[in-house]
Amino acid sequence: MTAIMVALLGVIVFTSAHWGLHPPSQVETIDSTSLHEGGEFSETHLGTLIAPDGTALVRVLAQQYAFVPNCVLVPAGVPVKMRLASADVVHGFLVQGTNVNVMVVPGYVTTVRTTFGDSGDRLMPCHEFCGVGHQAMWAHIRIVEAARFPFDEAKTKAVSCAH
Ligand code: CUA
Repeated sequence: MTAIMVALLGVIVFTSAHWGLHPPSQVETIDSTSLHEGGEFSETHLGTLIAPDGTALVRVLAQQYAFVPNCVLVPAGVPVKMRLASADVVHGFLVQGTNVNVMVVPGYVTTVRTTFGDSGDRLMPCHEFCGVGHQAMWAHIRIVEAARFPFDEAKTKAVSCAH
C-alpha cells in the first residue's frame, strides 16, 4: 500500500515538473456579476499590457460564448502573466500546444504564467461545457516576434490583435 502511494506521488511530482504544470497557488475572489461595470475586467482593460518590468500582463474575460479579446496578441519569448475572470458560468481555458490549461470559475480570478516560444497563431478553445454555445466558444492567441509587438503602445493601454 505504502509503495503504491509513494509511486503515485512520484508520478504526480514527475509529470508536474516535466510538463511545467501550475498547481492553483492562490485564491483571489472577484464579483462576477459586476465585471462590465468597471474595474480590472472592464472592456478597455482587456488584452495585453506591458508592465514596467517588461513582462506582459494579459487580461481575458470569459463569457457565454466568447473570450474577450477574441484574439490575444503576445510577444514571443517574454514572460506572460494571464489573468482571467468569468462573467457567468465555469469555462475552461487552454492554449493549444502550451502548458496553459486552467478553469475559469465565476467569483474567482484565475492566474497562469507562461512564456510563449515560437511565433504563430494558436487556438484557445473553451474546454469546459458551459451551455448550448460551448462548442462555438473559442479564440486565438497570436504570438509575434518581439520586434513586431507594439511595446510602446501596450505600456499605456491594453492591446489585442487589432491593436
Ligand atoms: Cu465556455 Cu465552454
